[in-house]
Amino acid sequence: MSAMAEEIIHNETIDTLLNRRSIRAFEPEPLDEATIATLETCAQHAASSQFLNDWSAIRVADSALKEKLAEIAHQPYVATAPLLYVFVLDEYRNAQIAKRKGVDVYSDDFTLRNSYRFSQAQNDAVLALHAMETAAESLGLGCVILGSVLGDIPELIKLLELPEYTYPVLGLAIGKPAQSPALKPRMPRDDQFFEDGYCDDPDLMLERLDHFDAEVHKYYDLRDTSRPVDAFSDQIANQATNRSVLKNGFEHAKQQGFVLDK
Ligand SMILES: Cc1cc2nc3c(=O)[nH]c(=O)nc-3n(C[C@H](O)[C@H](O)[C@H](O)COP(=O)(O)O)c2cc1C
Repeated sequence: MSAMAEEIIHNETIDTLLNRRSIRAFEPEPLDEATIATLETCAQHAASSQFLNDWSAIRVADSALKEKLAEIAHQPYVATAPLLYVFVLDEYRNAQIAKRKGVDVYSDDFTLRNSYRFSQAQNDAVLALHAMETAAESLGLGCVILGSVLGDIPELIKLLELPEYTYPVLGLAIGKPAQSPALKPRMPRDDQFFEDGYCDDPDLMLERLDHFDAEVHKYYDLRDTSRPVDAFSDQIANQATNRSVLKNGFEHAKQQGFVLDK
């Protein structure tokens, strides 16, 4: 089945999703309590694997703390976000619940600290964050997801006083947009959606990317308007050998009590 030429359906939700792009400049005004309550409640309504509800989010309101997160991220706009969250995978709360029910949360029987649980909780946190992002966009707000706050995980854990069995996943900055960036192109759908198994023609997959490469290379990122961004393939090749983000991985999970080889 060719996925290329079909019309797609539009409604408000779909258009919100299709018009989503990262916003990295915000009007300074704070968001009202009803908006915050709405966004947080939408996040809570995301699906949760085995209904473990194993995520939490830290609302970062203190301006000095925001500045510290911006420093870790090397992204000054982090500090300017009227609403800023760090989503956390959280087995601490569940450990307390299990402990109250008589489970020894330091024994091998306690599985909530193991690898599958870690990724299960990470998935839940990301789904909740994305629900919040979509809800915010639907209200005309702008967002940027922030992997950059993981630039110094031990420091982030310290700053947010994250207890054992928790781990930071991603930040989310939200506010009224003060910029209107162009939508970034996306790769051909047939290169990302395959039917009944993985793509059986990798050469065709790469061939189809040539046009996309050219489209991406026309895009100007508002963070650096002096030149268009690199073609997609060049970005991927650069990232494929970029070691600087490796520290954003899970190497500090042990210090938080997780046992990730099980
Ligand atoms: C997991 C994740 C982490 C991200 N981290 C950052 C970040 O630290 N800083 C930033 O400015 N953008 C960040 N982004 C935004 C991406 O750069 C952006 O989504 C991508 O370039 C596509 O652009 P668009 O969102 O405008 O469509 C992140 C996105 C994701 C999904």
